[in-house]
Amino acid sequence: MTRMPMTRRTLIAGLAAAAAGAALAARPLRAGAGPVPLVARATRAAILDTPTEGMFSYAEGAMSPVLRLRQGEPAEIRFRNDMDEMTTVHWHGLRVPHDMDGVAWVSQLPLGTGEGFDYRFTPPDAGTYWYHPHCNTFEQLQRGLNGIVIVDEAEPPAFDLDLPVLLRDFRLGKDGQFTPLSVPRNAARGGTLGSVMTANWQVDPQFEVPSGGLVRLRLVNSDVTRVHQLYLPDSTGQVLALDGHPLDRQMPWPATVETALALAPGQRCDLGLLVTLPATHLMTDAKGGARRLARLAAGGTALGRGLADMPRLPPNPLPEPDLGAAERLDFVFGWSPAGDATGGSSLCGETGQRFWSINRIAAAADGPDPGAPLAILQRGRTYILTLRNETQNDHPIHLHGMAFRVLGSDRRVLVPHWTDTILLREGETVEVALVADNPGDWVFHCHVIEHQKTGLSGFLRVTT
Ligand code: C2O
Ligand code: CU
Ligand code: CU
Repeated sequence: MTRMPMTRRTLIAGLAAAAAGAALAARPLRAGAGPVPLVARATRAAILDTPTEGMFSYAEGAMSPVLRLRQGEPAEIRFRNDMDEMTTVHWHGLRVPHDMDGVAWVSQLPLGTGEGFDYRFTPPDAGTYWYHPHCNTFEQLQRGLNGIVIVDEAEPPAFDLDLPVLLRDFRLGKDGQFTPLSVPRNAARGGTLGSVMTANWQVDPQFEVPSGGLVRLRLVNSDVTRVHQLYLPDSTGQVLALDGHPLDRQMPWPATVETALALAPGQRCDLGLLVTLPATHLMTDAKGGARRLARLAAGGTALGRGLADMPRLPPNPLPEPDLGAAERLDFVFGWSPAGDATGGSSLCGETGQRFWSINRIAAAADGPDPGAPLAILQRGRTYILTLRNETQNDHPIHLHGMAFRVLGSDRRVLVPHWTDTILLREGETVEVALVADNPGDWVFHCHVIEHQKTGLSGFLRVTT
């Protein structure tokens, strides 16, 4: 990869942007008045003390903007690729028409340097989603190319603060520079972890929250590997939504490590936090012990809200599966029988390795030949998908184009909910249901991106 030449002007702009930090990153780009410009570029930003070279972002010298769209209103995002490699933009979790899904070789051709694409769709669902490339996905994500997209409710519920937080581990050395992004040995196991945990591209930042207020904390796990176990010690609140969709029943509030909320790569949660403490800590339970991701510091005159004042999120207009008439489809996620791969194109980052499979087929992810569909679904019909993980690793399984309802697990009690990404634990089988209402070829893959890139990928075809 070639790096952008650093002039004095871009350096100063970059430093100023880095100093503005969360404030800048959180400034939303609002759709509505004409197309929203979005540019992917090579950049540098200070995650540690020295700026990290060789980053990618949809912003200059900072984390990508939070895009804000509105439920039921047409959005147009005018994208341009200013990087020295190919890319596309995918809208993770948004139910968009197939030709707007941004998957290289499946729904569009990869975009070269200087090329653009207008993504046009009308989001049917409100909630917290994210956008990221779907070409050379591993490298581009690891270098920072992804952002949060919020779809505001047609009538937004009134919180005292809306706080989007993008979680990401960067793989950096002490000098702040990237170390090798992937270790093949890890790719064949749980995946390669980063070394520096960040929230909105900052290490253990402090966010101001209104004292006694109700905060809508939107957490997005954009990491390529880490399954977070999130909790906020001694705090009070309500889990409002998982993966964009409001919950229709209560879930335990993650006030302790025992009730920690698992948030896998690709997943999001909306937490309704009642600010009762001077400082609330967002923690993750990692292997080496508990780690603080961010600190929420209460300020201002006390608003005196109570849990009873928590706004309710209206349900999204999802198609209810007809379980009585459902057809069953089985999927098994396993080790790869194929070994190393030959062929494939390097345009979107072919790894040449196959460690994983779906239904015994190890796919070439991001390759010009997507192969045959794993299953063909009749448009309008209900399907129950049995998802069996026969490996010893976690696999957050993600489906494009449609949301599905989680029915249950053979290992644990799961709160029934709608999602686009379901975490399968070691040896676990989960049943989900969906109505195949969106025609097209929909990618179905693990969101541990090294798994996706080494075989754990495929697609479902919904007939037109
Ligand atoms: Cu988050 Cu196939 O993507
Ligand atoms: Cu997706
Ligand atoms: Cu996986």
